Amino acid sequence: MELVLEKVNKLTGNIFVPGDKSISHRSLILGSICQGETRVYNLLNSLDCLRTLECMQSLGVKIELGQDNSVNIKGKGLYGLQEPKAILDVGNSGTTIRLLTGLLSGQNFYSVLNGDNSIRKRPMKRVVQPLRLMGADIWGREDGHFAPLSIKGSQLNSFQYTLPVASAQVKSALLLAGLYATGETVISEHLSTRDHTERMLETMQGDIKISPPEVKIKGGTELRSTDIFIPGDISSAAYFIAAASILRDSQIIIKQVGVNPTRIGIIEILKKMGTKIDILNYQIKSNEPRADLKIGYSELKGIEIKEEMVPLLIDELPLIAVVATQAQGKTLVSGARELRVKESDRIKAIVSELKKMGADIEEEEDGFTVNGPTRLQGAVCESYNDHRIAMSLAVAALLAEGKTVIRNSECIDISFPGFEKTLQNLINF
Ligand code: S3P
Repeated sequence: MELVLEKVNKLTGNIFVPGDKSISHRSLILGSICQGETRVYNLLNSLDCLRTLECMQSLGVKIELGQDNSVNIKGKGLYGLQEPKAILDVGNSGTTIRLLTGLLSGQNFYSVLNGDNSIRKRPMKRVVQPLRLMGADIWGREDGHFAPLSIKGSQLNSFQYTLPVASAQVKSALLLAGLYATGETVISEHLSTRDHTERMLETMQGDIKISPPEVKIKGGTELRSTDIFIPGDISSAAYFIAAASILRDSQIIIKQVGVNPTRIGIIEILKKMGTKIDILNYQIKSNEPRADLKIGYSELKGIEIKEEMVPLLIDELPLIAVVATQAQGKTLVSGARELRVKESDRIKAIVSELKKMGADIEEEEDGFTVNGPTRLQGAVCESYNDHRIAMSLAVAALLAEGKTVIRNSECIDISFPGFEKTLQNLINF
């Protein structure tokens, strides 16, 4: 599929974006191992989350997805999952494979996880190695570096571990394993990463103590089901926030967006670059903050983004590259090597495609440098089968002269089905 877009004047109007992807995965996994029935509202009905849903169904959990993106999960309790009859297919979803590796390590059965070509290239040793320290029996290609992963469930021991890579997926995998370990597991992180797993475990009355930079979890305590209300995904909202920031005279409101402090790096950075963003109607629901975001155009200036900030806007960095092409001066992103091991090598992908559009952007080992402002030209671009690259290029297309074609744009459905329609609702030619 190709997404074809042309230059627009400005964006105006009010929109909702679909439910948060990270929270959706966690609600399906944790709802499945709760005691009792969990009702989830505003689940993200995208390819990645459907993979998690199907994997949990293959583990014997009854899950019904309603028309309105609400979900009913009949929890099996901590010890009620069943051995899957076939290989669990995570598709393109890194969150699914890493979190489930943690969960499955502590079961009393055998399971195998596999995914698509991109998943089989992504690093798995970051979860396999600490889980082995807990006593997990996991095998994978190149000694557990790569999927498929094969897991013989075993009794796990608690341990103390400091994350060498800032990764919420690794932290969450270890917390899930910690639910099954004897004693108390303590996980520390040098840089804060998203804390949705911790927050959800807290609402489900898990035996968890959250005191950043440390989180402690005791194994063997059953979780209690609860209703989960999922806010809009700030990573999906980010494309419209960015577009409204760089298209003159734009004014938009995005309603009910998750504004968890471990996710709002994009708001903080754009504000520093000069964007006007108001946070309205702030409230906390299901232990997660949400708000309406009002965004208006203003002149932007370049910025330096360093390693400490990276986990707070990791998925938005390709989009920052697009915004930086319109900002006065130099934008430098460093300490972001992780971008190279996402759904695609996002540094290489965004640099090469924005260059085709005329941007002054250079690849660095652990980030990129952009000099702005530049006038972008429409071009034929590749998505690299990466949803975040496709949508970032769509934002660039809105201000490029002429027509932009984004090839293999169907990958957008990984995280944001309906992206183009939502965009069309805001466009003023
Ligand atoms: C995610 C964490 C991040 C992020 C990914 C979703 C999660 O990955 O890039 O899209 O749901 O935990 P890492 O934690 O591996 O950086």
